[in-house]
This record gives sequence, structure tokens and C-alpha cells, in this order.
Amino acid sequence: MVALITGASSGIGEATAERLAREPDAELVLVARREDRLKKIASDLPCPATWLAVDLTGTEAPGRVLAHLQEHHDRLDLLVNNAGAAWRAEFGEGGWENVRRTMELNFDATVRLTEVLLPLLRSSAPSSIVNVASTAGRVARGGSGAYSASKFALIGWTDALHLEEAPNRVHVGTVLPGFIETEGFPAAELKAKLATRWLVSTPDKAAEAVLDAGPGGQAERYVPRPYRLVAILRILLPGLTRRVLGGGSARVMTTKTGADAADADRR
Ligand SMILES: NC(=O)c1ccc[n+]([C@@H]2O[C@H](COP(=O)([O-])OP(=O)(O)OC[C@H]3O[C@@H](n4cnc5c(N)ncnc54)[C@H](OP(=O)(O)O)[C@@H]3O)[C@@H](O)[C@H]2O)c1
Repeated sequence: MVALITGASSGIGEATAERLAREPDAELVLVARREDRLKKIASDLPCPATWLAVDLTGTEAPGRVLAHLQEHHDRLDLLVNNAGAAWRAEFGEGGWENVRRTMELNFDATVRLTEVLLPLLRSSAPSSIVNVASTAGRVARGGSGAYSASKFALIGWTDALHLEEAPNRVHVGTVLPGFIETEGFPAAELKAKLATRWLVSTPDKAAEAVLDAGPGGQAERYVPRPYRLVAILRILLPGLTRRVLGGGSARVMTTKTGADAADADRR
């Protein structure tokens, strides 16, 4: 099984690489910007693995990924679109620019990469695509409108692709993580309090969800699973959900991404 994982240099992507490496005949392709991290992770895996250091928002990125696959692997059984980030800001502060850069990575880069790799996924069928969205793609909180917009968009597009690609035997699944402690989403504020610590899960659990939504054939998978209730409540009791989330911690949740030094102070 040849599997390509974007955002494989840390967090959920790194854990997914480690989990997939235990599958029979696994052969992995790791993609992110930090080459030193990718190289180290690839060399520690118990299966063959190659890596490509590329900024997925770049114009040439999808073509470079395809060329790498054709040169080193020549098929693709699983595409995990996981690279993503959150730049916290209320719209009044961050404006269109914050929405633009969030969509560029979390939505546009995923769509552009999938477009270029879809013919290879079809010719390798049965195959699968997993798009790592978020529970924030079902419910929005103050201070994370740009992030929610990108993940709502990703889920809508993924649902349509799921239906469209079924006849081609390319399964398309969505993973909707809640709070997972990673480099980019440390969840330090939640972990600091006994009352909220239980809300935070691990990258290993998210990696299992990726397998369920990919080779496991599930259309969508929340992780931790009870986060599904939040999405249901948003539909059934929207007023109550808004009141509860209105007192939430989105405004004080810190986020960051590893290769982007300019982001070190973003909230
Ligand atoms: N952790 C959570 O609580 C949580 C909750 C819901 C959804 N998610 C989603 O899960 C996914 C993984 O996030 P994570 O929590 O594992 O965070 P993370 O540890 O920060 O991982 C993000 C990954 O994306 C890569 N990346 C960022 N910008 C990139 C770019 N321009 N080009 C290529 N790669 C890029 C990063 O690598 P480089 O810096 O090396 O490029 C890194 O490997 C994201 O889509 C995120 O939205 C996470």
C-alpha cells in the first residue's frame, strides 16, 4: 500500500505515518515543509518511506508531489490530506487577509493536490482519500471564523467527492478531530485545568481515525467519538449551542505552526 501523508512532520500527520507504517506492505510518502523532520521520521519508520519538502500553498506544489510519486512509487493507494493550521483572530482584526491565508492552506491546497493526484488514485483503485477537517467544521466559535470557514468548506467539498468517486472505487472519508494535543494545537489552556483536561485527546487516536476513514471505508469519523454530539446539538439545539460556545475558549486558545517563524506569536 502506497500512502501519501501531508503535514507528516508533526502532530496527527506524524502519528498517522507511524500507524500506517505497521500495515502490511506499507510504503509511505511524507510531505511537509521541514525536510530535517521528514528525513528523521522516514528513517525511523519500520517500512520504506520517501519524503518531499514542499510548501503546499505554492503554485508548483501539486506537480512536484505527482512527479515525486511517479519517480519513486508509481501508484497511490491512500492520500491523507492533513496539512493545516489555524491563525486565531476575530474578523474585525484579521479581516479578509486572515481568511485568505487560512483557506489557501486548509482548503485550496487540499483541492489542488487532490485534483492532480486523482487520476493516479483512480488507476490504483480500490484506493482512498482522507481529508482531515475538524469539529470546527461543524460548529464555529468567536476568534476562529477563518478556520471554521475553511473546515466547513472542506467538509462540504469532501461529502460531494465521496459520492462522485464511489463509482471509480476511490473511497473519500473525512476525519473530524476535536482537541488533539499537537505542536500546532497545544491545547495548553484546556490541559491546565482539571475540569477541561479530559477534552484533549492524542495524535495516536487521530491516526486510528484516519485508518477508519480511509482503508476502513467510513465516510466520516469524529475523534474523540463523543465530539459527534457537538455537531448534533448544533442542529437540534442551535440557541443553546451558541450560548455554550459563546463562553468558550477560542479567543484564548494559542496555535502555531512549526516551519513558519512569522507565526510564532499568532493566536
Ligand atoms: N490538533 C487539533 O486539535 C486539531 C483539531 C482539529 C483539526 N485538526 C487538523 O489536523 C491537521 C493536522 O494538525 P496538527 O494538529 O497535527 O498540527 P501540527 O502539528 O501543527 O501539524 C500541521 C502539519 O501541517 C504542515 N504544514 C503546515 N503548513 C504547511 C504548508 N504550507 N505546506 C506543507 N505542509 C504544511 C506542518 O509541517 P511544516 O511546518 O513542516 O510544513 C505540519 O506537519 C490540520 O489540518 C488541523 O487543522 C487538528
